[in-house]
Amino acid sequence: MRGIILSGGHGTRLNPCTKVTSKQLLPVYNRPMIYYPLNTLIKAGIKEILIIIAPERAGDYLNLLGSGKQFGVKLTYEIQDSPKGLPEAFILGENFIDADDVALILGDNIFEDDLSSEIQSFKNGGKIFAKAVPDPERFGVVEVDANFKAVSIEEKPTVPKSNLCITGLYIYDARVIEVAKNLTPSARGETEITDLHKWYLERGELEVSQVKGEWIDAGTFDSLLAAQHLAKEKLQNKLVI
Ligand code: DAU
Repeated sequence: MRGIILSGGHGTRLNPCTKVTSKQLLPVYNRPMIYYPLNTLIKAGIKEILIIIAPERAGDYLNLLGSGKQFGVKLTYEIQDSPKGLPEAFILGENFIDADDVALILGDNIFEDDLSSEIQSFKNGGKIFAKAVPDPERFGVVEVDANFKAVSIEEKPTVPKSNLCITGLYIYDARVIEVAKNLTPSARGETEITDLHKWYLERGELEVSQVKGEWIDAGTFDSLLAAQHLAKEKLQNKLVI
């Protein structure tokens, strides 16, 4: 399996801190933010990782992470000229993915859980990671049946059908490349990752895994502060890099 970290965008919600560097390079306690999703992939044994970045920040990433040799992995980079939607990761990553399975993680998503066995047990189709949250309307939401099988998926619904938010870690087989190429942008002008989940759901090939520990999308000042505390109090002895 290959890994992709989507780490582009403008990070405007964290202005002025993001005027000089990328959101995903801001400190979360004693490491740059991207180290946390990188840890999630490396712990799962993924050795080839593509990092997708905005053009104006490319130098910062190369200076910080380089080839990845120091972490025992191979890092490669692709530029995303402008944020056109999460599914673009699979189009930019087409040659990198080739015919492999791929785990995509967002560069600002921090998981307390060790998800290695959940990642390694992937067989085919699609797999998403859901977490019960008090404010599901801010996220992609999955409704599940009594056996935790997905029933419906919606992106930021006004009236959510469940409290299960879809976190920023997704695993797909290589068919995702062609599916991503055929998506049309939503009302907000971007292609939506929820449309990829729906494609697999319609075929009965979408698995939902539950995130039990804390999960934080560190993209706002308040969630960034919460991430600092999580990193200091619970993550220090779980990190491999
Ligand atoms: O955090 C989980 C949520 O992420 C999911 O529940 C939603 O289903 C999913 O759509 C996404 O929602 P967001 O509104 O948080 O997505 P956002 O546009 O903020 O992008 C998430 C991160 O990905 C952000 O750190 C910037 C980066 N990004 C985003 C886009 C659209 C890119 O690098 N390139 C892009 O084209």
